[in-house]
Amino acid sequence: MIEFRGIHKYYSDYHALRGIDGSIRAGEFFSLLGPSGCGKTTLLRTIAGFEGIDAGVMLIDGKDMANVPANARPTNMVFQSYAIFPHMSVAENVAFGLRRDPRSKAEKAAAVEEALTMVGLKGYGGRAAHALSGGQRQRVALARALILKPKVLLLDEPLSALDKKMREHMQVELIKLQRQVGITFILVTHDQEEALVMSDRIAVMFEGQIAQLADPETLYRRPNSRRVADFIGTMNFIPCEILSENNGQIEVEAKGLGRVTLEADQAPPPSGEGEPVVGLRPETLTLLYPGQKADERSVKGKIDEVIYFGDMTYYDVFIGGTDVEVRLSMRNVPGRKVLEVGTEVELAWSPSALVLFR
Ligand SMILES: Nc1ncnc2c1ncn2[C@@H]1O[C@H](COP(=O)(O)OP(=O)(O)OP(=O)(O)O)[C@@H](O)[C@H]1O
Ligand SMILES: [Mg+2]
Repeated sequence: MIEFRGIHKYYSDYHALRGIDGSIRAGEFFSLLGPSGCGKTTLLRTIAGFEGIDAGVMLIDGKDMANVPANARPTNMVFQSYAIFPHMSVAENVAFGLRRDPRSKAEKAAAVEEALTMVGLKGYGGRAAHALSGGQRQRVALARALILKPKVLLLDEPLSALDKKMREHMQVELIKLQRQVGITFILVTHDQEEALVMSDRIAVMFEGQIAQLADPETLYRRPNSRRVADFIGTMNFIPCEILSENNGQIEVEAKGLGRVTLEADQAPPPSGEGEPVVGLRPETLTLLYPGQKADERSVKGKIDEVIYFGDMTYYDVFIGGTDVEVRLSMRNVPGRKVLEVGTEVELAWSPSALVLFR
């Protein structure tokens, strides 16, 4: 649906987009994820045609967008805030995008009702927009964008103004809506959980570049750099020494864990930045309770910190008699007691859960 080939964008001297390559498929829920200032909004605005590009090619639906103005593109954008006009009714807000549409009043009213139904606001047309909740306002903004039947809907942090509960509710609503209308959604967010929950695929951006473009599970299980691993979820990084490399298999000595053989897909291309480390997610380490045995490997440890979360407990544990500390998460199930600081424990782990960054 959209293809980026070597896109660069400058704001006078500032190099905001530094060679964006990749593509977005028709009908997918795609997210641009990255820290503040990495260029997410800029990239979204170049797709919409609100910003020009200084180098590269952007194709939408196979057509070069070089000389296509925003209003002639098959895209529509939902902005983060001041998304609706509070002095208008809900229906007037939704119909706003149709103000230059030659259709009759009755046809437009039917289109408004259809769009409101889509976002779960059937019958709300006569209400004053200022009398709506935050989540309802966001849905009015969505209806206003959808009524123009874009092929691509661009969403710039549409949920960031909502509280946590409402945001989670709207995330599910947005996923349902996207499946129902079947058009391509491109969401900008700096919230990694939101991106993981909602997206078919995610582009992780740092400093004007895409660091990794993949589906949520690949990003989480096989991040291609330490930086991506650190940005998405929590990952333990354990210093290691690379012993040998044969036929794609890599043998490492990880501090506290010992010798491990890693398969090729557990080692993204070397970055040459910093000392090598192996990464391990907290939920891939399991505390063994008396009588339990590890399926694969285990390591002894000592609990240094206990963080209780209600449904989960996080433990920070020194492993293998070293100063290496790892965080692990355990689900709190009935009958399993939370252990105390200082307890000597044994942790089960699996070599296949490791990722090598070098
Ligand atoms: N109109 C502009 N003129 C000059 N610099 C700009 C302009 N718009 C953005 N920038 C700069 O370009 C960089 C990328 O901005 P952008 O708004 O794309 O970031 P973002 O990833 O959307 O961040 P956030 O999560 O904070 O919204 C920032 O350093 C920003 O200061
Ligand atoms: Mg932004």
